Amino acid sequence: MRRLPSPASQEECYKELVVHKLPAISGPIPPAIGKLSNLSLLIISWTAVSGLIPSFLGELTQLTFLDLSFNSLTGSIPASLAAIPNLSGINLSRNRLTGAIPPLLFSESPREAYLWLSHNNLTGDIPPEFAAVGFSEIDLSRNALTGDASALFGQGKPVHQIDMDLSRNGFSFNLSGVEPPAQLSGMDLSHNAIYGGIPAQVANLSNLVLFNVSYNRLCGEVPTGGNMGRFDAYSYQHNKCLCGAPLANPCQ
Ligand SMILES: *[C@@H]1O[C@H](CO)[C@@H](O)[C@H](O)[C@H]1NC(C)=O
Ligand SMILES: *[C@@H]1O[C@H](CO)[C@@H](O)[C@H](O)[C@H]1NC(C)=O
Ligand SMILES: *[C@@H]1O[C@H](CO)[C@@H](O)[C@H](O)[C@H]1NC(C)=O
Ligand SMILES: *[C@@H]1O[C@H](CO)[C@@H](O)[C@H](O)[C@H]1NC(C)=O
Ligand SMILES: *[C@@H]1O[C@H](CO)[C@@H](O)[C@H](O)[C@H]1NC(C)=O
Ligand SMILES: *[C@@H]1O[C@H](CO)[C@@H](O)[C@H](O)[C@H]1NC(C)=O
Ligand SMILES: *[C@@H]1O[C@H](CO)[C@@H](O)[C@H](O)[C@H]1NC(C)=O
Repeated sequence: MRRLPSPASQEECYKELVVHKLPAISGPIPPAIGKLSNLSLLIISWTAVSGLIPSFLGELTQLTFLDLSFNSLTGSIPASLAAIPNLSGINLSRNRLTGAIPPLLFSESPREAYLWLSHNNLTGDIPPEFAAVGFSEIDLSRNALTGDASALFGQGKPVHQIDMDLSRNGFSFNLSGVEPPAQLSGMDLSHNAIYGGIPAQVANLSNLVLFNVSYNRLCGEVPTGGNMGRFDAYSYQHNKCLCGAPLANPCQ
């Protein structure tokens, strides 16, 4: 029989709990987890765990990273997670979550924030409070989110890079007025209902290596110069009236 290794010291007891790729584990997340008050890392991923994300996880005040991705969790994201002071990474991708994103997530976190919520059924708007959060990575792709996502584009965030995937939602806002932050390294806005034009400043984003605004309702000239040579027509296809290279139709 395999035994779990003994912890090196008393302090290291129960700081990390990792349950990964164990598809035989099913049923709800047990209340006993909420008693592990020293946990800084909780990973339950690639299991058959189902039911709600319990609000007692908000009692794990030492948590810095929570990964419940690739399970069968349902219901909404509990607002109690916003009360965890140093939580800077949340991965709830690939579940069956519904409802809105709670407003104050990461509002207490002094650090860079990492949020993955892709492949769920989340609805509603991006909380306006997210304008104050320094996201290094935010993946909201493949949900049913709507409204204005421009709050995510604020300037002066204390982060080195920003990777943003908002693809395959129902976001609808005017992209013309958005001032993309200099740290943007990836921006996938494809398959939404975004309108207006592509801001000229995009050409100045030297860190930008992934850019996709295809399948929206954009119009006007594709910016040229700078780093725009990195992106081909597939980044711009299926819009209302975008024009100019690398698209085949010239601007009138
Ligand atoms: C948390 O850690 C402290 C010491 O580091 C220990 O005294 C306490 O029993 C631990 N609590 C739990 C629930 O493990
Ligand atoms: C949050 O992190 C800071 C800096 O690492 C630390 O001083 C503080 O005690 C932490 N707060 C909690 C509630 O763990
Ligand atoms: C979070 O989940 C996504 C799956 O959508 C995965 O690609 C990503 O690597 C995960 N991130 C971490 C840090 O576990
Ligand atoms: C989202 O909801 C639709 C309709 O209710 C359903 O068909 C689909 O399977 C759901 N997707 C996920 C990832 O739960
Ligand atoms: C988008 O905003 C710009 C100003 O930033 C404005 O000129 C334009 O008419 C707007 N487009 C639409 C479709 O509302
Ligand atoms: C791009 O950067 C150059 C050099 O810093 C600057 O002159 C220009 O105004 C910028 N363009 C836009 C659209 O911000
Ligand atoms: C942009 O997204 C579209 C739609 O998902 C896809 O077909 C295309 O390959 C993507 N282009 C790039 C450059 O990633």
